[in-house]
Amino acid sequence: MAMKAKERIILALDVNSKDEALELVKKMAGSVGAFKVGMQLYNLAGPGIVRCINDLGGRVFVDLKFHDIPNTVASAGRVMTGLDCFMFNVHAAGGRVMLKEVARAVKEEALRLRRAPPKILAVTVLTSISQKEMEDEMLIKGRTVEQVVAAWAKMAQQSGIDGVVCSPREIAVIRACCGSDFIIVTPGIRPQWSEEGDQKRVTTPRQALDYGADYMVIGRPIIKAGDPVEAARLIIDELEA
Ligand code: C5P
Repeated sequence: MAMKAKERIILALDVNSKDEALELVKKMAGSVGAFKVGMQLYNLAGPGIVRCINDLGGRVFVDLKFHDIPNTVASAGRVMTGLDCFMFNVHAAGGRVMLKEVARAVKEEALRLRRAPPKILAVTVLTSISQKEMEDEMLIKGRTVEQVVAAWAKMAQQSGIDGVVCSPREIAVIRACCGSDFIIVTPGIRPQWSEEGDQKRVTTPRQALDYGADYMVIGRPIIKAGDPVEAARLIIDELEA
């Protein structure tokens, strides 16, 4: 069954306090599909924030981008499963063994706890990294960023990872190499009526959907809007149009 437009919106809780975050969750739980807790809020409020949001009827994408030795990331994955988050992410650059170990650990832990496993997403090449930085600093030469993104997405998929977080411009290539069941989550979304802010290469919600995104991480266009519920409604209308 096709996903409802509302379910596709992941609201980025990029705010400075737990209270502010929970106020937003109360206001927006009926208008979006999930909430993203990133390094700022997680480190400020602690892991209990996940339970608080769940208790208010929201699902949580924990965006901490784990990158460490396989055993450590697998352990973090068990903790994420215990927290009952909806999604969390890891760096594909951690390698195939790390990806496999975390995928296995999450399945085992979910079985033990008798609950649905969180979806694990891979981050490939950060969208802040240019071709030149990839070559000169990471010493990955002879390939375009797009080729590395596609290869690492495929490696993640083969390792049991559920999907990726990627820039809207990478959606098509990842869809082509990983197929329709692989989850694609994309930030950098700006409805036509909102300000771009510091995001450079943006797409509208509709464009992201047409490129093949499953979920969209959206922050400021909603939380900085005069009426966030109305802003989310406009985005849902656009997705349903
Ligand atoms: O406010 P805005 O809609 O730009 O928020 C986008 C969210 O997605 C932020 O939490 C940001 O950290 C995150 N993100 C991003 N670009 C990436 C990866 C994550 O904007 N490449």
